[in-house]
Amino acid sequence: MRLILTVGTRPEIIKMAPIYEIMDRVKEIEVLLVHTGQHYDWEMSEVFFKDLGVPEPDVELGVGSGSQLAQTSGVIDKMERVLRSYEPDGVLSVGDTNSVLGTAIASSKMEIPFIHVESGLRSYDFTMPEEINRRIADHLASINFSPTLGAFSNLLEEGYPAERVFLSGNTIVDAVMKVQELVSRSNILRELGISEDELLMTVTVHRKENTDYEHRMLGILKAIKELDDLTIVWPLHPRTLKRLKEYDLLRDLKTMDHVILTDPLGYLDFLKLLSSSHVVATDSGGVQEESATLRVPCVILRNNTERPELIELGIGRIAGTNPASIISSVRDFVYNEKMRTKLEKLPNPYGDGTAAKVIVDVLRRTWDLRAIRHESPYFRGGSPHYIAFKVPENLVGITVARFQEITGYEVVSIYNASGKAVFFDLSKPFSRGEVVRVRGDPYNFQKVVKLMRERR
Ligand code: UD1
Ligand code: UDP
Repeated sequence: MRLILTVGTRPEIIKMAPIYEIMDRVKEIEVLLVHTGQHYDWEMSEVFFKDLGVPEPDVELGVGSGSQLAQTSGVIDKMERVLRSYEPDGVLSVGDTNSVLGTAIASSKMEIPFIHVESGLRSYDFTMPEEINRRIADHLASINFSPTLGAFSNLLEEGYPAERVFLSGNTIVDAVMKVQELVSRSNILRELGISEDELLMTVTVHRKENTDYEHRMLGILKAIKELDDLTIVWPLHPRTLKRLKEYDLLRDLKTMDHVILTDPLGYLDFLKLLSSSHVVATDSGGVQEESATLRVPCVILRNNTERPELIELGIGRIAGTNPASIISSVRDFVYNEKMRTKLEKLPNPYGDGTAAKVIVDVLRRTWDLRAIRHESPYFRGGSPHYIAFKVPENLVGITVARFQEITGYEVVSIYNASGKAVFFDLSKPFSRGEVVRVRGDPYNFQKVVKLMRERR
């Protein structure tokens, strides 16, 4: 099996590393590692290959920075050439960046199965480029790996066939566990002049919905200024640095004595900093997952999250960018000893460090990617095996159980004539005017209706 694995940004490299490592050991999988070049600075890209022991990519597309559309179309355009020359059996990407969207479109249009890892996350917020990217990538994928039960069930709710969705856990847990030993040797705290008894908070901010709005950045800065009972370390993402300069806020930030600003940190140093922190305030997806993994309470600097597990567990809180909400959430987490002890015992909703193994096992044993491409109705048809029909005369009075028994179709919903969902069980007979949504092979539909007519 020939697979292309793609990465484009720092979280993609981190989350792909455990998958790459296992695939590299498996003889029947031949891997081509492609870097789109969305992130290109050493501290945004290369350092992660080094820290996680992943070799240099085989192909560099060099897409670079640009608008949402320029970046996405750049990936589509440049990926086409690689797909044509390498002719893979499948293409696997992780996450929800423009690199992932471009890859999903390019491979699907070339009828090469796209495999999406970290599938099914939903923020229900279309102002986020990531929400657009992940929804399209999920639905173009021939195989989806969901990190949590919530994400898994989102896909089923959207009509995605269960046969193609696997619950794997998130490979970020694998990555964190893999580098634990190396992290313990990081000297970053000493380099930053931080002693063990300081109350430490890590901050990261880079999402468009924050950085592109001055008032939101101002809200975060106000909170940080007031939290001077803590030592705050903020590794600045290049996008954020650029914006803070534009808004003329960087100068204010630099005057705050309790705040240490750094360049983006390598993975080992960042995990050392995070795991030594009493709390983290972030808009990052990966950092939310790591906070649950390392049991560091997380104040989410966003109005929503596609990672609700954190909040359900009590280790995360949505604070947005309102200074009062940020300050009270941070103080609750830092000073409430009882809560901190409770957090220690929580399970990790993002997995147990075996996600990459699950993913590779599924790809090796369950799926013949060539078959998906050439024979499977699933790949041919996207998700059309949900069919809705108005109850024909010959089906009136037939029960759900009888219908399912004869056709092999599963009735998933029934709506009355005014479009309202009808509660039903197996004994419910179909009524005139109802619309029934069923799940089965679409190519047999006419045959099924004919059969129903004959069998009555
Ligand atoms: C991207 C992803 C986001 C992900 C993040 C990980 C999209 C839509 N966004 O956001 O989902 O959370 O990566 O960090 O795909 N820049 C540099 N050097 C670099 C890379 C970027 O200076 O190596 C600067 C450029 O000015 C660039 C800006 O950062 O315009 C933003 O980079 P970009 O890749 O477009 O988006 P991110 O904010 O990094
Ligand atoms: N990270 C890092 N150094 C930093 C900041 C973050 O190594 O200075 C890591 C962090 O541990 C996490 C990942 O980068 O695994 C998250 O990336 P980011 O926040 O850029 O993107 P997101 O996860 O929101 O897509």
